Amino acid sequence: MTAAPVVARTRDELRTARVALTGQTAVVMTMGALHEGHATLIREARREAEHVVVTIFLNPLQFGPKEDLSKYPRTFDDDMQICRAEGVDVVFAPTPDVIYPDGDPGVRISAGPLGDVLEGQARPGHFDGMLTVVAKLMHLTGGDSFYFGQKDAQQLLLIRRMVRDIDFPARVVSVPTVREADGLALSSRNTYLTDTDREVALALSRALHEGAQRAEEGPSAIRRAAREVLVAEPLALVDYLVLVHPTTLQDVPEWYHGEALLAVAARVGTTRLIDNTPVLVGPGGGARQVFSDTASAAAAV
Ligand code: PAJ
Repeated sequence: MTAAPVVARTRDELRTARVALTGQTAVVMTMGALHEGHATLIREARREAEHVVVTIFLNPLQFGPKEDLSKYPRTFDDDMQICRAEGVDVVFAPTPDVIYPDGDPGVRISAGPLGDVLEGQARPGHFDGMLTVVAKLMHLTGGDSFYFGQKDAQQLLLIRRMVRDIDFPARVVSVPTVREADGLALSSRNTYLTDTDREVALALSRALHEGAQRAEEGPSAIRRAAREVLVAEPLALVDYLVLVHPTTLQDVPEWYHGEALLAVAARVGTTRLIDNTPVLVGPGGGARQVFSDTASAAAAV
């Protein structure tokens, strides 16, 4: 039986726990309500590093005033069971006053223009708040590598840019989106969905799938096929459906061949859901799990 992870609640406790981590350390940051997507990140981290630190912190800075911070699921005991089963060494689970001892930080990381589109347009300030906490948790945990899900493609891109643009000594690793058997991308927010919502929500992954099937025919065929699925499901209130360049997030032109991001956001019932798939557009094209090293490296140039 694996030993229970050390739980650190304060900066001092984390510092003490870190002393035992003498080898390469991988970090998985989460907001709790862990599911198989998070567990997969932990497993990938475990495979490549000697030690794994998981952070569980519901970061108020990345939630807007009308968003779901107060109702976000809190399942600490279950989260600990997952961390234990996956052989996590240390769980850092601070409260907001540990992370922000002086209240809201006046100095923050700015996501820049890439943080203003797509999710950033719907959630002003979200990415600045996200990057600020990710930067802090990179410093506090002192990890060597940091694992993030392709599920949050724009978040992943911005973290790669931050690491590159302001020279964090960190390696960022992306992990493919984990889905239910019927295609629904796992998300802590899926617990908000009613049975009907859940059926409706399947339109998102179906749209991505249908779009990616047309990858060889080019951007307009991809967009059209994806849009048709969503139009047929009027209960999914689409915020955006885009086929964009993976590093600029600009719409790809009709002549484009290469890797692109097919991404969707929609409201289903009271829940805002996002999903995406990397797509290779052009001959031999189709859905991909994550972007190639070339495209990921380009994100960091
Ligand atoms: P959270 O939504 O808890 O997600 C934590 C990590 O799990 C992120 O890297 C996310 O992309 C990944 N993840 C979520 N669902 C996944 C799925 N179905 N398949 C694969 N990976 C998945 O993202 C955040 O928290 C926060 O913004 C955070 C980075 C912790 C900063 O507060």
